[in-house]
Amino acid sequence: TFAASIAGLSIAALAFAGPAAAQSPIIIKFSHVVATDTPKGKASEKFKELAEKYTGGKVKVEVYPNSTLYKDKEELEALQLGSVQMLAPSNSKFGPLGIKEFEAFDLPYLLPDLKTLRKVTEGPLGLKLLKLLDTKGITGLAYWDNGFKQMSANKKLITPEDYKAVKFRIQSSRVIQAQFKTLGALPQVMAFSEVYQALQTGVVDGQENTWSNIYTQKMNEVQKYITETNHGYIGYVVIVNKKFWDDLPADIRGQLEKAMKEATDFNNTQSQKENDDALAEIKKSGKSEIIKLTTDQDAAMRKAMQPVYQDAAGRVGQALIDEFLKEAK
Ligand code: LMR
Repeated sequence: TFAASIAGLSIAALAFAGPAAAQSPIIIKFSHVVATDTPKGKASEKFKELAEKYTGGKVKVEVYPNSTLYKDKEELEALQLGSVQMLAPSNSKFGPLGIKEFEAFDLPYLLPDLKTLRKVTEGPLGLKLLKLLDTKGITGLAYWDNGFKQMSANKKLITPEDYKAVKFRIQSSRVIQAQFKTLGALPQVMAFSEVYQALQTGVVDGQENTWSNIYTQKMNEVQKYITETNHGYIGYVVIVNKKFWDDLPADIRGQLEKAMKEATDFNNTQSQKENDDALAEIKKSGKSEIIKLTTDQDAAMRKAMQPVYQDAAGRVGQALIDEFLKEAK
């Protein structure tokens, strides 16, 4: 009969749709620029594990570390175009997108420790900043710590005068640019993937980064000195393509949010240890001399960098800087 053949057809259609649907999970390409053995590298792997588990395999996360897909600036363009779905760029890399506010995180000696930073990233200020991304077709999901930055070079960096005319690789942040200009240094924006070679060949003399990034990129093998300044912070904003995210079935989005929350907790409980371990490895390698500053030398650096605040006010707004400083009190 007609009804029977319709029923037969739909059973055949279902039988066909079943395995086909199982074979085509939703793919999230997650691109980043650091090594796998770093806070961000490990947290992205943790997110993959949890996302695939909580969605029962309906979502597959492909993590591409070490700039294998895209470099610093290209990855943000790729996200907006939908060529990748998820990234975790540092706060210092949103300027080229037209969002300057995240550069407030780059202010030297802004927040004294990770505990204070969490007051920003887990509080209303952090949420307000994430909302700014909406207008760029991006949804901000979470903040992940890396840690505090150190200064490295082929000369000893002890006093502010030591920075004069030294060429430093920097991330694209204008606040970081102002920081080095204030010291009389020569900052040069460069993608993270190019830093090792630029240091090795002398295109730049120095750079600033966390212990984990310095060690996993082997920068310590091409830098004679690293000064333990802890002068600034590197942390990440985990972002997704907004349209991709909004179009997901609600139950799947909820499962992914749960996975992200847990991956964030995982990241933020182990980032400090990653950096401590990297410092220990650098010491063990004996490749760079590690310089500790005395209280007076530290005070001199803080004083020399103070003018950056005024410069940054023109970039991110004094009101926003005040909101950050309020959290440090
Ligand atoms: C850098 O470019 O130095 C860092 O932002 C790299 C990273 O993602 O930690």
